[in-house]
Amino acid sequence: MTDRQSVPSWLAEAVLYQIYPQSFADSNGDGIGDLPGITAHLDHLAELGITAVWLSPCFASEFGDAGYDVADYLSIAPRYGSNADLAALVAAADERGIRVLLDLVPGHTSHRHPWFQQSAQDPADDRYIWSDRITAPVHEWIPNQGRRGGFYRANFYPIQPALNFGYARPDPAEPWRSSVDDPGPRANREALRQIMAHWFELGVAGFRVDMAASLVKDDPGQLETAKLWGEMRSWLDKHYPDRVLIAEWGDPARSVPAGLHSDFFLHFNGRGLRSLWDNGTGSQGSWAHGEPCYFDAAGAGSTAEFLTAWQQADAAIDGRGLVALPTANHDFSRLVCGPRTREQAACAFAFLLSWPTLPVIYYGDEIGMRFVPGLPEKEGSQFGTEARQGSRTPMQWDASVNAGFSTADPGVLYLPLDPDPARPDVAAQRADPDSLLNQVRRLIRLRRDTPELGTGAEVTVLGSGYPFAYVRGGTHLVVVNPRREPAELAVPSVSDAVPLLVEGVEVAAGRVRAAGFSYGIFRV
Ligand code: NOJ
Ligand code: CA
Repeated sequence: MTDRQSVPSWLAEAVLYQIYPQSFADSNGDGIGDLPGITAHLDHLAELGITAVWLSPCFASEFGDAGYDVADYLSIAPRYGSNADLAALVAAADERGIRVLLDLVPGHTSHRHPWFQQSAQDPADDRYIWSDRITAPVHEWIPNQGRRGGFYRANFYPIQPALNFGYARPDPAEPWRSSVDDPGPRANREALRQIMAHWFELGVAGFRVDMAASLVKDDPGQLETAKLWGEMRSWLDKHYPDRVLIAEWGDPARSVPAGLHSDFFLHFNGRGLRSLWDNGTGSQGSWAHGEPCYFDAAGAGSTAEFLTAWQQADAAIDGRGLVALPTANHDFSRLVCGPRTREQAACAFAFLLSWPTLPVIYYGDEIGMRFVPGLPEKEGSQFGTEARQGSRTPMQWDASVNAGFSTADPGVLYLPLDPDPARPDVAAQRADPDSLLNQVRRLIRLRRDTPELGTGAEVTVLGSGYPFAYVRGGTHLVVVNPRREPAELAVPSVSDAVPLLVEGVEVAAGRVRAAGFSYGIFRV
């Protein structure tokens, strides 16, 4: 632990942007976004102030789970282009000071992956988890179609067989419980290093790590899984010290001390994120809660759950990494969802871009793209009761009906656009100085110009209700009022507040007066 390298400064200073490749920009009119499309739209990201992008999986796949079912980790899916197109994207992004991260899916492959095809035939192969009978967890054991027979353990959907990283608690009565040092688990750990090195050599800056907590099975407290990531971190520190791993774990207090550079607050594992954004109207499913969130017009929410989660994670991390805070992602509702408007989303961005977490903007949220309910299932998007497709619609570049996505062949079309004729688009918002896009751009610029607003400076909360008010780095006051009603707060310690970026907030005579749906950042 003591010899661990610190987080690269580019990550500590980053504004990260998630691109869902199939929905971002289609360069050849086949109705599916692709890598040349992303390359062609990098200026949008550069103008916005984005410093790093993360691409959801863009590897060879049958797309039974939208690409999270990887059939070849080393090849770009033909529908997205080629490995050369990725190299071109990385180079073009680099020219604009933008790093490119990919999505590493370490816990499972596609059932189409050659490793699995081989393992399904050969009883001596332990790269996957094979049993002759179904035990707990019953729904995760899938009958094998291959020659060796028996059942394999799935990690998510049945088409996603779990790679074998061993069990924390071997049991002679269940001989498929490998130890973490058996040949299969060791081969799989080595394979992860090879995959990472392959893309690092092409210039990739790091990975978002899918289901990072899922690797070692029956692992109370995830201690063995944590050790595995510690081993990966030592390897990175030695060979690729400027590359990073950002976990999809949802428990930064555990994952970052283990060795991951950052981890998200997510819609599962606690309510740090949901208590901010989740107004109960989007892709809710099994984690729905029905409690008010803080960023809501009615003003019935609270920052308490977020602040408790943040303080716990921050204390456990102790300077060794970062909590990543997303506006949304491809699994969870967008910010503009149900009754929440773009105007209200601006308050959320003011908070996101002035809190000491790593800000992560989901494509389209910068223009207030709406979560679209009622869409058909697409490529595994419908997960139980969760309609994830509502967050996966095509990026709205301009007002044209298709926005670059072909409707000629509905079998090829990725997903329909938001049908609302008033849907926001990039072209219109660029031209409007008051648009959400331009507000987000100004907030990002201020964060990038002001280290006191970034991840390295302390935060002191002055008011945790409505308005939410805090001082960053002893020098910058932030006020956010995301409810419809105005809100006031006595701030006797604040004198001489110089407005830097303000929409509807006044600070005078030791008092904050915040209009409904307002925010302000001041030098004090
Ligand atoms: C989490 C990903 O974000 C989600 O989209 C995917 O379905 C599962 N992991 C399985 O890989
Ligand atoms: Ca295309």
